[in-house]
Amino acid sequence: MTTIGIIGAGNIGSNVAKAAIANGYEVVISNSRGPETLGDLIDELGSKATAATAEDAAEAGDFVVVAVPLKNYREVPVGPLAGKLVIDANNYYFERDGRIEALDNNETTTSQMLQEHLPESQVVKAFNNIPAKDIPTDGAPAGSDNRRALPIAGDIAEAKARVAALLDEFGFDAVDVGPLEDSWRVERDRPAYVVRSNADELRDRIAEAVR
Ligand SMILES: NC(=O)c1ccc[n+]([C@@H]2O[C@H](COP(=O)([O-])OP(=O)(O)OC[C@H]3O[C@@H](n4cnc5c(N)ncnc54)[C@H](OP(=O)(O)O)[C@@H]3O)[C@@H](O)[C@H]2O)c1
Repeated sequence: MTTIGIIGAGNIGSNVAKAAIANGYEVVISNSRGPETLGDLIDELGSKATAATAEDAAEAGDFVVVAVPLKNYREVPVGPLAGKLVIDANNYYFERDGRIEALDNNETTTSQMLQEHLPESQVVKAFNNIPAKDIPTDGAPAGSDNRRALPIAGDIAEAKARVAALLDEFGFDAVDVGPLEDSWRVERDRPAYVVRSNADELRDRIAEAVR
């Protein structure tokens, strides 16, 4: 049984957990306030879900989804994620996260920031481009008409292939944006951002993006 560690139990974390459990995974999920505050969510998710600290979720996961507000990314535990695939759902909302000069100046991307924080991990951006509630509900079998596509970005081909396979299980095509440095193309205010797209439409919208 494969276990997905989830750091952040809000909109994205809880909906990734639902999709994961529906597809046969176990999840170990965490928030900032401690596992004792996650009782209602665990009741909802059922016996395949366990609440933990962020450190324990990172430790338990065969791979790990990071779904905390960007302003908290430096709190993500580094040691237990070394050597692991880390899926990054982050987006930059200055109203929530405060101004981050390197992003405002287009010198980096949110996922490059997380990769720098987790130098021994393999960061792949995914799930940043879909309203959280659609993750467990909008999937469809491979080959379905107008199947929704989600972008992925990362620097390691093998890690991206694993995430593409996960998205396929969840019911989505994956469109490769390129390395983490190109992930700005699917962030907030770009043409592809949270617009429901099939793979062809998503490729077109990614190509239209201007930084
Ligand atoms: N909402 C969407 O539809 C959506 C779509 C795509 C991407 N995103 C992006 O995904 C990220 C998460 O968004 P969200 O909407 O899921 O946020 P959210 O609903 O506010 O949930 C954030 C979660 O992160 C937890 N958290 C904060 N600091 C933590 C830490 N140091 N360790 C462990 N957990 C921590 C919070 O725990 P506590 O409650 O205990 O503080 C909460 O469970 C953001 O960057 C957002 O922009 C969101």
